[in-house]
Amino acid sequence: MKALITAGGHGTRLRPITYTQNKHLIPIANKIMLQYAIDYVKEAGIREIGIIINANDNSIQNVFGNGENLGVEITYIHQDKPLGLAHVVKISQSFIGDENFIFYLGDNILVGGVKPFINDFNEMNSNCHLVLSQVSDPNRFGVAEVIKNRIISIEEKPKSPKSDLAVTGIYIYDSNIFEAVNKIAPSKRGELEISDAHQYLIENDFDITYSEITGWWKDTGQPSDLLDANRLVLDNIQGDNNGSIRNSSVKGEVSIGTNCQIENSNINGPMIIGNNSIIKDSVIGPYSSIGEECKIISSNIEYSIIMDGCNISNISRNIKSSLLGKNVKISSSKDSNQGRYLLGDQSNIEL
Ligand code: DAU
Repeated sequence: MKALITAGGHGTRLRPITYTQNKHLIPIANKIMLQYAIDYVKEAGIREIGIIINANDNSIQNVFGNGENLGVEITYIHQDKPLGLAHVVKISQSFIGDENFIFYLGDNILVGGVKPFINDFNEMNSNCHLVLSQVSDPNRFGVAEVIKNRIISIEEKPKSPKSDLAVTGIYIYDSNIFEAVNKIAPSKRGELEISDAHQYLIENDFDITYSEITGWWKDTGQPSDLLDANRLVLDNIQGDNNGSIRNSSVKGEVSIGTNCQIENSNINGPMIIGNNSIIKDSVIGPYSSIGEECKIISSNIEYSIIMDGCNISNISRNIKSSLLGKNVKISSSKDSNQGRYLLGDQSNIEL
């Protein structure tokens, strides 16, 4: 079995972060989002992985190379334009050949990996195996209508969903999916929809089976999803300390990287701090991920993702539910009556 993982697309809902980096490189609990997908398929015994990237984006290749260091073999498949998930499958046919494959959307994170679903597919011996999850907002997803344990229809982002079962971004196929992606037409928004390919399989009597996710699963489409995913991963983190802690309290599970200096601060787990970061006179607290080489002085941070190289000093108000890209600087103004801002397009601040 091979794996196809997406790392292309628009990333518009995560601007401005995605102006400067591919969304699949955003860290969740200090681990690159795409790394979760690669780890999951590797854990399932798959070595040959195709990664879909936008035509002129080398950033994923720069991080993962040919996969040798991870013990996998990565082939990069360029998509000229994000023309839809069925288009992704279509252009990957020569990489996949005749093999069965797992199609994994690289912006999905779940607990427990994908091995159980591959086992289900193998046992049920179907043409297409989908992974469903109950959600409170089905109109954001492909939605499956299930009667007597059979999927009878699938609709992409329906206005009036027929169930609360979202089709997650984990699909396992045999070669019949290529017939489907080659037969369907673009949707109203101009994309070849993967849900339409699934509907084609249903209407043409192919065998579609499913598993339901019982633990958590997240499609990290929006900033609040990233913070949620960060929380869910941190909930399972194990504390370890490789830095130096002076005159501070550390509660709960906290992973502290090498050469970190923590001084005169309260650190409340679960949370993670990357290598070479300095925290002084601050309260950093639950569900926060602080990247490498960050400096946090006299400030309070909670439920946030702070990426590498950020510098936050003397901020009297709590920083909460925040997402800071690399090398962001926040400091207190010298004049207490006025602030000074240098914000890129579509930045978002609430004071
Ligand atoms: O996450 C589950 C949902 O994923 C499903 O319920 C939907 O049926 C499915 O269409 C998809 O919906 P999204 O709106 O979340 O898809 P999105 O455009 O965010 O793309 C998902 C991933 O695929 C992401 O890694 C970006 C990548 N992508 C997307 C498109 C459209 C590509 O690499 N190429 C593309 O052309």
